[in-house]
Amino acid sequence: MNHSVDPEYSSVNQKSNKDFLSIDLLSDLSIDLLSQLKEGGFLSLKDVIIEGPLELSTRCGISMDDSNFIYNQTITFLEDIGVIDMRFTPATTLYDKRKRIGRISTGSQNFNKLLGGGIETNAITEVYGEFGTGKTQLCHTACVMVQLSYSQGGLDGGALYIDTENTFRPERIETISKARHQNPKQILDNIVVARAYSSSHQELILSESSRIIESQNIKLLIFDSAISLYRSEFLGLSSLSLRQQRLNKLIHSIMRIAQTHQIAVLLTNQVQSSPETGFANLSFKAAGGNIFAHSSTYRIYLRKSNRNRIARMVDSPNHPESETVFSIGESGITDPQKE
Ligand SMILES: Nc1ncnc2c1ncn2[C@@H]1O[C@H](COP(=O)(O)OP(=O)(O)O)[C@@H](O)[C@H]1O
Ligand SMILES: [Mg+2]
Repeated sequence: MNHSVDPEYSSVNQKSNKDFLSIDLLSDLSIDLLSQLKEGGFLSLKDVIIEGPLELSTRCGISMDDSNFIYNQTITFLEDIGVIDMRFTPATTLYDKRKRIGRISTGSQNFNKLLGGGIETNAITEVYGEFGTGKTQLCHTACVMVQLSYSQGGLDGGALYIDTENTFRPERIETISKARHQNPKQILDNIVVARAYSSSHQELILSESSRIIESQNIKLLIFDSAISLYRSEFLGLSSLSLRQQRLNKLIHSIMRIAQTHQIAVLLTNQVQSSPETGFANLSFKAAGGNIFAHSSTYRIYLRKSNRNRIARMVDSPNHPESETVFSIGESGITDPQKE
């Protein structure tokens, strides 16, 4: 039996990528167990955390006891080297860490302010609104902004764009880059696009995304949109509970990816009209029901206002509900021009 990892993966990822943490680092595991993990596709410690013990047991054909043991060993190892927070962490340490958290500029100062500085890493930012409100424009702008240096509002990293609606346009990236005095070719080189054709295809792409995130220095993962494929495939009340189950699994995987790889996740969502009447701007709800509402870290509602757009922070653990005005121009998302 060959115990070594896939040679292609090994040469591309392990040697060139400083973030790659091989499962060989788990010194307490037998050679046989390690080889079973590799055969099941678990090459990195981050894979173990992202997939969880149940998936580990199923894919590698090992007992749940072994799987839980490996999972806890992995968590302890990653705690020790500071990749994930220690089990018992003083709040002051967490606060210091939060002050250093990465943020990606949206392109608009107003919008950034609403988000407390920009799109946060280790979190899911969900943007929802009717068509034409700027969701896809925000995604395109963020793909450019993430590549800028820290001082310019970026994270010096690439973007992975999961496109479910066939609305990713490289030429739009080009115009935004030029308007922001960036080299379009270089910017395009650092965006990986995955076109998803069905909900299960989208899940497959997500399960393979760790490889790309590590090898391409991805700092921003985009889903535009996150649930449209689920909405079109699971029709009617009878399939609602299955759809919610699948969405629940999806959003939790996304969250584990955000936190384990310490990247920002930006996802767009459609709206559905809500029977609850009230303020005109609140008569639309994000699709996906409670699952997304409880799992996204930040939820932002976009709406049109003449030629501008309004972004409203609807749900956040640390921001008040408030709104701001932004605009869409040649350079993507920007502040409204002063008249
Ligand atoms: N190059 C551009 N310059 C200015 N505005 C643009 C440009 N491209 C698209 N837009 C504007 O963006 C809006 C569409 O936003 P989009 O992000 O596609 O909406 P959605 O919320 O449906 O994803 C339209 O109002 C369109 O006019
Ligand atoms: Mg769109």
